[in-house]
Amino acid sequence: MPHPLEELRDSALREIAETQDESALEALRVRYLGRSGSISVWGEQIKTLSKEERPVVGKLLNESRNAVTAALAETGERLRAQREASALADIDLSLPGTATEIGALHPLTQMLDRAIAIFRRMGFALAEGPDVETEWYCFDALNTAPDHPARNEQDTFFLPDGRLLRTHTSTVQVRTMQSAPPPIRVIAPGAAYRRDEVDATHSAQFHQIEGLYVDDSVTVGDLKGTIEFFLRELLGAKTEIRFRPHFFPFTEPSFEVDVKSKALKSGEKWLELAGCGMVHPAVFEEVNRARGDTAYDPEKYSGFAFGLGMDRLAMILFDIPDIRLFSQNDLRFLRQFA
Ligand code: DAH
Repeated sequence: MPHPLEELRDSALREIAETQDESALEALRVRYLGRSGSISVWGEQIKTLSKEERPVVGKLLNESRNAVTAALAETGERLRAQREASALADIDLSLPGTATEIGALHPLTQMLDRAIAIFRRMGFALAEGPDVETEWYCFDALNTAPDHPARNEQDTFFLPDGRLLRTHTSTVQVRTMQSAPPPIRVIAPGAAYRRDEVDATHSAQFHQIEGLYVDDSVTVGDLKGTIEFFLRELLGAKTEIRFRPHFFPFTEPSFEVDVKSKALKSGEKWLELAGCGMVHPAVFEEVNRARGDTAYDPEKYSGFAFGLGMDRLAMILFDIPDIRLFSQNDLRFLRQFA
């Protein structure tokens, strides 16, 4: 007559072999091998047996446990494989996959990144300000008279609350000086807005890099050297550069900067790229008034500032014929710069 443990083992093996799903299999494991499972409890009973019976039943118990454990593992593996196979059954592995599209930086962003990298090497830190500004930041603080034509509604986008879309990035000069004392050496890349008649070379939104350097002995020589170094790094060592006297309310003296380079598509023509000059004492004084101190004492400090137009530069470097392409989001255009 088989030992009851043997009967228990055989019925466990039979049930395991017949199991069709993983949770039922787990229930069987608990029933036979769990802490109070019917095979496990034999471990306790052994203590009550006679000396002769004990090794026999002990051996049987070990064998039963091992056999049931192995059967559980084997059936578990089989059921898992079945589940995975049926999950894949509805999937047609021969269908093409979904390609992940890889994006690329916009040509203007690439242009700005190149320019910013050069200024950073010269020790300029990045500064920023909002596109929606007050008239004070855009004009008054920059020594621009109330009747200056740029303040006209014909030229500038005003919001109903009196604020405006900044017409240049020079606003960031004022914001930077307001928040920190000299020395200052920053660039501020960003968008600016004017109510221009839109055509191939004019857009209502354009991009500039503003620069500001204030310290105790900044000269026009520093201004020229900085701009020339930047342009030759960007456009090549053979680039010709010319500073033409000009007028800006917030600098004195002021210049416009033109470049000529065979490397450029514009070839032999002078190309106007930037405005610049020595920060006007009236700007320092207005900043002091706003700060409530004399941190920017015009007797002690001097500085230069510049504003570089980036759209035209990108158009020339990348041979782009129409400024409107920058904002039309046409993938056929954008993919050429990926
Ligand atoms: N803000 C001027 C413009 O948009 C450019 C400019 C001229 C910026 C002279 C400057 C500067 O910082 O010093 O036309």
